[in-house]
Amino acid sequence: MKNENLESVARKLVAEGKGILAADESSPTIEKRLKSIGVPSTEENRRAYREVLFTTAGAGDFISGVILFEETIRQKTRDGRTFVEALEQQGIIPGIKVDKGAKAMANFPGEKVTEGLDGLRERLAEYRQLGARFAKWRAVITIGENIPTRTCIEANAEALARYAALCQEADLVPIVEPEVLMDGAHTIERHFGVTQQTLESVFHALYEHRVVLEAMLLKPNMVLSGKDCSQQASVQEVAEATVRCMKRVVPAAVPGLVFLSGGQSDVEATEHLNVMNRLDQAPWQLSFSYGRALQAPVLKAWKGDPANVADAQRAFHHRALCNSKARFGKYTEDMETAKAAA
Ligand code: 13P
Repeated sequence: MKNENLESVARKLVAEGKGILAADESSPTIEKRLKSIGVPSTEENRRAYREVLFTTAGAGDFISGVILFEETIRQKTRDGRTFVEALEQQGIIPGIKVDKGAKAMANFPGEKVTEGLDGLRERLAEYRQLGARFAKWRAVITIGENIPTRTCIEANAEALARYAALCQEADLVPIVEPEVLMDGAHTIERHFGVTQQTLESVFHALYEHRVVLEAMLLKPNMVLSGKDCSQQASVQEVAEATVRCMKRVVPAAVPGLVFLSGGQSDVEATEHLNVMNRLDQAPWQLSFSYGRALQAPVLKAWKGDPANVADAQRAFHHRALCNSKARFGKYTEDMETAKAAA
């Protein structure tokens, strides 16, 4: 019974034409983002910025869910509604990031393992009480000389599976995010191999921990050339490599893949999603759970000035609309210039 409900939430999160906004930047990350527009990271500024995103009129047409940070789920709009209420009024499902961050892994230089399992059962119960219906945990896999190691991949996969099992117990849909970083000079073939190995390990651990695949979502990286690789793959190559890799390892029982943007530009992230959705039918919904790729233009337009809220919300609405079109493979380049002319 319980799983039936979770399955329906998971399916709603990948409803046609919709995807997820990741607005769950931890305190150091949001500080970096606000600093980039010259705004100090005070609690009020963080709140005001998130209010811009969450109260954008019509966002619910393209955004199915928003991932909140622990501070954010307790905050309110200026007119006194909790953010959870404000999102629900837009028809958007509130979610929450529950990991405590990727930390240096002892004995494995250059590699990270995500922490946050201790006390997680109790925290999940509280987040569910506050209105969250889904959760997110991000593991980070780095490509470099002699890394990633099997030990790092397996430690992260095990943690992801334990987190996902606890989420389903707590009536929350787990979003399982094993991110293979695009940082480095590696080729797209290397990124493909490491992504495949990571996902194999993750799905093995999920199986061992009896996680119900129909009641979760996968948040994978796209398969890309390393940021510093001299030979950059085309949009078509990225889309084909990504879907080919996913087909090898992601069971069809998973309702959807919600890709992270991971340092791609906003337009690139939309283009890649668009072409993936033009390829032959995949067994899962191919959707998005973008942070930077949805927010970069919003931050730039807002700059911390209340006078810019309408412009910032227009920028967010436009990016969300472009990604919604990409869900159908119907995004076109002229949508970007159409907006500039508007
Ligand atoms: P990006 O799309 O900026 O990678 O963020 C998504 C996310 O939630 C990373 O955990």
